[in-house]
Amino acid sequence: MSNADAPRSTGGDTFRQDLFKGKVLFCTGGRSGICYQIVQTMMSLGVDAAIVGRDAKGLAESAQALEKATGQRCIPASADVRDPKQLEQAVKQTIDKFGRIDFVICGAAGNFLAPISSLSPNAFKTVIDIDLLGTYNTIKATIPHIRDAKGSYVHISATLHYRGLPYQAHVSAAKAGVDALSNVLAVEEGPRGVRSNVIAPGPIGGTEGMSRLTPKGWKPENDIPLGRMGATSDIANAAVFLFSPAASFMTGTVTVVDGGEHHIRQMSLPYPQSLLDPESVKSLIKGKL
Ligand code: COA
Repeated sequence: MSNADAPRSTGGDTFRQDLFKGKVLFCTGGRSGICYQIVQTMMSLGVDAAIVGRDAKGLAESAQALEKATGQRCIPASADVRDPKQLEQAVKQTIDKFGRIDFVICGAAGNFLAPISSLSPNAFKTVIDIDLLGTYNTIKATIPHIRDAKGSYVHISATLHYRGLPYQAHVSAAKAGVDALSNVLAVEEGPRGVRSNVIAPGPIGGTEGMSRLTPKGWKPENDIPLGRMGATSDIANAAVFLFSPAASFMTGTVTVVDGGEHHIRQMSLPYPQSLLDPESVKSLIKGKL
């Protein structure tokens, strides 16, 4: 029997149903994918939420779906994380509605595959702006409220930057910065009762990133010790734990949720052929290289 059949939790069946009753979550990138699942799981455990992103219409639809699925309240707070003023407005909207913010997820991110040699200055800057400056801007806009609540941050990072990974210079630099920022936040704000931790997801199925960034025909069982792709619920479970009182002595940590993948990571595109002759791998790649 492969480990892909091993028992799994979807969160709601493991944690106490009223774990986050009366608490408020502010989540950037919550419209879809991993962050949407975290918000849904936390709402099913009693939290009210604000989801933040650029796509106002998509946010409104997601907020409605989250309320319907969980019975908790969720507001769409439209903002580009690259703009500090828009984030301040989103925080104000959240405070006006709920009166507090206890938990923050810095999850907004952008990615595409490109070697440094063809990465324009603006392309590199765009990902740094969204992932790293976006995290900084989110922290700055929320910190007075997180101090008041003695609350907690979870930043969604990656494992890409643990080694040199081709085509991922921009994201690797940004996520290394996010990890560093979280550590400093943990140390600076710990004395005020604020915690800051990072989750580093591995390959997670059903997400936009995975569907665009993995080569055609990739087999998770060959590259992941636990024999399967991650699910968004795997990341949500880690977030619930890190926000819960069970993690009250944890700050400045990185929780890797990747089935063990980063310990044995292979180059998913042939190395070095894919770099020396990019045309030769065009047929292996979904989307633009
Ligand atoms: N390869 C190389 N450069 C790329 C690129 C790619 N696949 N995609 C975007 N860029 C470059 C653009 O050419 C532009 O640089 P330029 O001005 O020198 O031409 C720069 O990045 C900004 O792109 P733009 O699309 O104008 O920025 P944006 O702010 O609208 O969106 C992203 C940026 C990263 C969000 C966008 O690339 C995107 O939509 N990605 C897919 C969604 C995504 O990343 N989801 C998260 C998955 S983890």
